[in-house]
Amino acid sequence: MLSTAISRAEVLVHLESFVKENIGTFLRTVEDSWQPSDYIPDSRLDTFFDEVKLLRERAAGLSYDLLAVLVGDTITEEALPNYEAWFHELDDLNRDRDNGWAQWVRGWTAEENRHGDLLNRYLYLSGRVNMREFEASTQHLIADGFDLGTAHDPYRAFVYTSYQEMATNISHRRVGQFARKAGDDQLSKICGMIAGDETRHARVYKTFVDKIFEVDPSEMMLAFEDMMRKKIVMPAHYMRELGVEMGKTFGHFTDAAQRIGVYTSADYTDILDTLLIDWKVGDRTGLTPAAEKARDYVMALPARLRRVADRMPVPKLEYKFKWID
Ligand SMILES: [Fe+2]
Ligand SMILES: [Fe+2]
Repeated sequence: MLSTAISRAEVLVHLESFVKENIGTFLRTVEDSWQPSDYIPDSRLDTFFDEVKLLRERAAGLSYDLLAVLVGDTITEEALPNYEAWFHELDDLNRDRDNGWAQWVRGWTAEENRHGDLLNRYLYLSGRVNMREFEASTQHLIADGFDLGTAHDPYRAFVYTSYQEMATNISHRRVGQFARKAGDDQLSKICGMIAGDETRHARVYKTFVDKIFEVDPSEMMLAFEDMMRKKIVMPAHYMRELGVEMGKTFGHFTDAAQRIGVYTSADYTDILDTLLIDWKVGDRTGLTPAAEKARDYVMALPARLRRVADRMPVPKLEYKFKWID
């Protein structure tokens, strides 16, 4: 452990070489990466129209709620410029372009960029989505921007991204499972490929937090507690349909996700459980009195969240999104 009074900047400099040395396991090379075109009909080929017809037939079997969740997930992915801008607001990560942190942010962004591209193309070809409404929602989300409660702090940001990558992994994976059940193996494969990236990204962000816990445990614990007290706000929280008040669309989106079981409040708590175990939070010692309190708070939180979740009913009625005619 380093001395107790250590700045965020010093910790990040300290860990920079670790990030750089391991970047090859954190990211895939471009040569080894899948590309959206691998999973979408090739428009140069004569078979294109037949393949699209097949894609549309399969997509016809997706339920309304499943499709709505898929559109919401795609808008979330398409708001990538927000996340990238947000990373660049973190003072200590972007000192120079060759440092490990900067390499990670660029490589992560480049991998994530494929997610929105792929889903967007699928939705377009599916013939089931009002693409103009979907695009307007995307433009809104990027133009509105968001406040994720991380206050330019890399410690809070890495808690956020650990959470967020695990949540997107769950959501994409489940949409894929439901798509398979509905007979759309192609969409299932698409979601599976994206979910695979999210899993790897989650592992990397969790590693960053774990490493920070090793050198700056009290501050890391306080940052974790602060994020959990504020609740992890999903980026889709600020999503809106054209002409619909901000916040309303997200409520309907989460209702749809809860109804079909793609992402539920139980998942939120399960993610927290996983983080508490992976970061060995209960075993962290050598903390300041404030950080000890923070540790006890987060350790007790899952049980509290489960009690609250038990009391919240999920609306049964489908909401009519503008995205789907
Ligand atoms: Fe993604
Ligand atoms: Fe992601």
